[in-house]
Amino acid sequence: MAAAFSGRVLGARSRIGTAAQLRAWARRGRAMTPASPAVAASTPSHGYANATPAVHLTPDKELEFEQDKTTVLFRVLDEPGALNEVLTMFGQYGFDMTHIQSRLSKDDVDAYEFEIDFKGDELDSKVSTFLDVLREQTDELRVLGKKQVPWFPRHISDFDHFTQKTLDADEDLESDHPGFNDPDYRQRRADICKAAMAYKAGTGRVPNPIERVEYHEDEVAAWGAVYNQLMKLYPAHACKEAQHNLKLLQRHAGYGPDQIPQLEDVSVFLREASGFSCRPITGLLSARAFLAALAFRVFFSTQYIRHPSQPFYTPEPDVCHELLGHVPMFADPDFADFSQEIGLASLGASDADIERLATCYWFSVEFGLCREKDVYGQRTLKAYGAGCLSSFGELEHCMSDKPEVRPWDPLEACQQSYPITTFQPVYYAAESFADARERMIDFTATINRPFDVRYNRHSQRIEFDRNVSVAPPRD
Ligand SMILES: [Fe+2]
Repeated sequence: MAAAFSGRVLGARSRIGTAAQLRAWARRGRAMTPASPAVAASTPSHGYANATPAVHLTPDKELEFEQDKTTVLFRVLDEPGALNEVLTMFGQYGFDMTHIQSRLSKDDVDAYEFEIDFKGDELDSKVSTFLDVLREQTDELRVLGKKQVPWFPRHISDFDHFTQKTLDADEDLESDHPGFNDPDYRQRRADICKAAMAYKAGTGRVPNPIERVEYHEDEVAAWGAVYNQLMKLYPAHACKEAQHNLKLLQRHAGYGPDQIPQLEDVSVFLREASGFSCRPITGLLSARAFLAALAFRVFFSTQYIRHPSQPFYTPEPDVCHELLGHVPMFADPDFADFSQEIGLASLGASDADIERLATCYWFSVEFGLCREKDVYGQRTLKAYGAGCLSSFGELEHCMSDKPEVRPWDPLEACQQSYPITTFQPVYYAAESFADARERMIDFTATINRPFDVRYNRHSQRIEFDRNVSVAPPRD
């Protein structure tokens, strides 16, 4: 069937990928404009967690108070009970330690050095009093400065401020896009993107609803053509999780060949299934911003569709790629956990590590394969990556004997080069998503980052253990 279609028969390029792609995306423009400092809060008399602000604060400002930390470095003599005595003081004075590490003192063979981060602002009078007491009980106590790390969102509402694109969709089309010379198509995309650009999820536990799109007849026809082709291949080649969730999506989120599902319905479904939610986006994001969203179990999704004249080709992610390729997998809790691990590892990481993580994302979330036991106990190859599940050409190719299939190993995969305009020559196959996640966690230990993070799903915040200062967002 593939030969019947001209050009590349691909699902879509990933939203993130090579350095060349990132440069191209950067050229197209990103909008990571800082939020306006809307509220001038009075300086509190204390600066640590559980403080009740006297005035209404923006989420960013609240975060600043919540995560103020101080780092101290001091020496303690190597004798029984000496360290315990010092550590007990933190509790006595009401300060929570968030990180502690020790090393042999280079200056005193009878002593150890300890570096401790604790909740509290160095400028707070309560903290400075405590530091004076601590200084008397230890040797050579020093207060260390903050470690600056690249920008990352700390609260889920940060995406309302930092991830809107600056250029409108009409300007974003490349000259090789099938809709490049079609003014009606470009206007249609711009109209759909307008609502996406204005979208704000808000700060509530349930995000604001996503505006519905009334799809045109030719758009639904393009969706239906892609949908019907893929449904022929899914039973043989899609992993069981994708197939199971697709059935649920058909039942509960409007999936079928005769209508394009609404992103809002899909997002509601995902929240119940795995805690993921969708946000509309107008186009391509930087790898850093896209991966960061995964840490919050948020998936950025386009709502526009490929040019109806070529339903089996798109040079970029569109609604077919997002809803048929990604969504069935994000509905699986193990896969959702796996994706979130990649996202968490990206927060505050260096550019080089972002590229390594983006490459892991490419070979897993976009083009990952896995092995499943069939009814005879034989392990057979299946697809779980969105680039395979949303493109019948790629799906047929990855199951053929043409590409090389290697065991999933993030340490190896992160160094593997890959093409973005042809079918993949190399795929990685995981034994299971739980196993893929464990290997990803091992891989994240190789990320060089001066702090650890976790996502608090109740407060919808990223919590970190060290006294770090987050740099302003880059353009
Ligand atoms: Fe994708």
